[in-house]
Amino acid sequence: MTQLEGLSMEEIIEQGKNVVMNTYGRLPMTMVKGEGAWVWDTEGKRYLDFLTGLAVNSLGHSHPAIVKAIQEQAQEILHTSNLYWIPNQVALAERLVKHSFADKVFFCNSGAEANEAAFKLARKYAKKMYGSPKYEVLSMENSFHGRTLATLTLTGQTKYQEGYDPLPVGLSYTALNDVEGLKAKISEKTAAVFIEPIQGEGGVIPATSEFLQKARALCDQYGALLVFDEVQCGVGRTGKLFAYEWSGVTPDIMTLAKALGGGVPIGAMLATDKVAAAFQPGDHASTFGGNPLATAVGCAVLDVMLAEGFFAGVQERANYLRQGLEQLARKYQTGDPVRGQGFILGWPVAKFGPELVESCRQKGLLINCVGGKTLRFLPPLLAEKAEIDEALNILDDVFSEIWK
Ligand SMILES: Cc1ncc(COP(=O)(O)O)c(C=O)c1O
Repeated sequence: MTQLEGLSMEEIIEQGKNVVMNTYGRLPMTMVKGEGAWVWDTEGKRYLDFLTGLAVNSLGHSHPAIVKAIQEQAQEILHTSNLYWIPNQVALAERLVKHSFADKVFFCNSGAEANEAAFKLARKYAKKMYGSPKYEVLSMENSFHGRTLATLTLTGQTKYQEGYDPLPVGLSYTALNDVEGLKAKISEKTAAVFIEPIQGEGGVIPATSEFLQKARALCDQYGALLVFDEVQCGVGRTGKLFAYEWSGVTPDIMTLAKALGGGVPIGAMLATDKVAAAFQPGDHASTFGGNPLATAVGCAVLDVMLAEGFFAGVQERANYLRQGLEQLARKYQTGDPVRGQGFILGWPVAKFGPELVESCRQKGLLINCVGGKTLRFLPPLLAEKAEIDEALNILDDVFSEIWK
């Protein structure tokens, strides 16, 4: 069902400007339907969605398992609150625990909330284990962790912080992949170090395995918790369930959101038993967190991803896309190599980023440009080779017109 049926795209946007707060630089587009890798707008135009709502619709649009879970759960019960035990929440936590380093899960509704929960847990844990003043938190320059006051302060990009001071205290930043920089900043006062195994909003920049290993060792040395933010790169995106699996380095806490709900809002903060024990009843909460609907869908998403052969297929198709992008990067001599892992790929383009994205959109391919100079690809994990070919053809077309 679509509200505002019968209105043109322009009319919807005009109405929207009157009543919706002006926090986004939105493109003039009104999507109302999706199926697999495809979406349609109110004008009936079809697009190949290689952005998937910013890494959310990882199983594609209207995946039958997700539709079924929503329909069935809606007929049973949608919400009960965390005053009571929620069977679906237990089932989703069991799946996450079984397939990760973690022992316990806290559920919330978004990536920012998951990181906020991780931040609070890290401070609580440090206080409980070591007492004051072990409250400092380190994060990476160029990182992105969310828009709440604490998580935008964790975010190592000042543009997100301007105008919101005074910001929470005790946070500082160090460069990703710079072991010496991390050594210089970490201390006995450090409660936690936050790292995205692949920086998404920062331009699809992977942490090296060496850096993650050293970060693990330094955290152990100083009694700091290592927190991996897998909100964007987790839940299948890299071709394994969690991005940290590629490095073999396990964190103490991990945050998830986005793809875990396949389009239904959910967030999760996972931790080892030892760390999770710092939270006691009343220490943290969320009204909607892990409600029956969101966790029914989370279970459905994981069941699809954990089926035999799923990730082998993702890795194969993701390599196919990567090779295609690399070929185009060579053809147009765009410079730096394509970055990323699996289906989170960044193609550095020193110029024309926004124009390339807009031209792709006009030709029916949705991607975006991060940091003004990296084209970002977050296709559905089930994107077929023919769809990847179509995306590559559009890109070839667009580059032949724009790239000089
Ligand atoms: C790595 C990372 N962490 C946290 C967030 C914040 O997630 P949300 O927008 O769901 O609050 C994002 C969003 O893009 C993200 O990419």
